[in-house]
Amino acid sequence: MKKVLILYYSRTGNTEKMASAVAEGVQSSGSIEAEVSYHVETESLKLYDAILVGAPTYHHDMPVDFKNLFEETAVHGISLKGKVGAAFGSYGWSGEAPKLILEIMKYKFEMQVVEPPLLSKYAPDQNMLASCRELGKRVSETLMNRA
Ligand SMILES: Cc1cc2nc3c(=O)[nH]c(=O)nc-3n(C[C@H](O)[C@H](O)[C@H](O)COP(=O)(O)O)c2cc1C
Repeated sequence: MKKVLILYYSRTGNTEKMASAVAEGVQSSGSIEAEVSYHVETESLKLYDAILVGAPTYHHDMPVDFKNLFEETAVHGISLKGKVGAAFGSYGWSGEAPKLILEIMKYKFEMQVVEPPLLSKYAPDQNMLASCRELGKRVSETLMNRA
């Protein structure tokens, strides 16, 4: 069974709500396993067919945990090439974090990314949650079409 990681960070719960809806979308196909987590060991990234990162923007930047994770992944030579990647997150006014993450996935790790990143201004409303489910569905369909 194909496995999808939905890795997220959230201080006030907005990106967390998005992550739950993305997971619902991934699971709607019924044949893909979705794991939602706040943390992942670098080595474990190898286990997933798709990696979806939920990152709120604080101080025009991505959460430091994700910077460390990407740096460790590169330093240890862990290949993410060809894995499906996507990024989403809540923001207030500038929303850089998901864009930065998608760039790293695409240009550093040569992942097959879903563009553009999905951004929610503060708390996601029903329309945004539907878009999150749609993103998850798109990822699982991409994986199923690969089989
Ligand atoms: C100290 C602080 C700094 C922030 N910096 C930014 C920023 O640089 N750009 C932006 O778009 N939003 C910024 N925000 C807004 C957050 O991204 C927004 O509140 C978001 O909904 C938080 O998501 P979360 O609930 O998943 O933590 C900031 C918020 C705080 C409290």
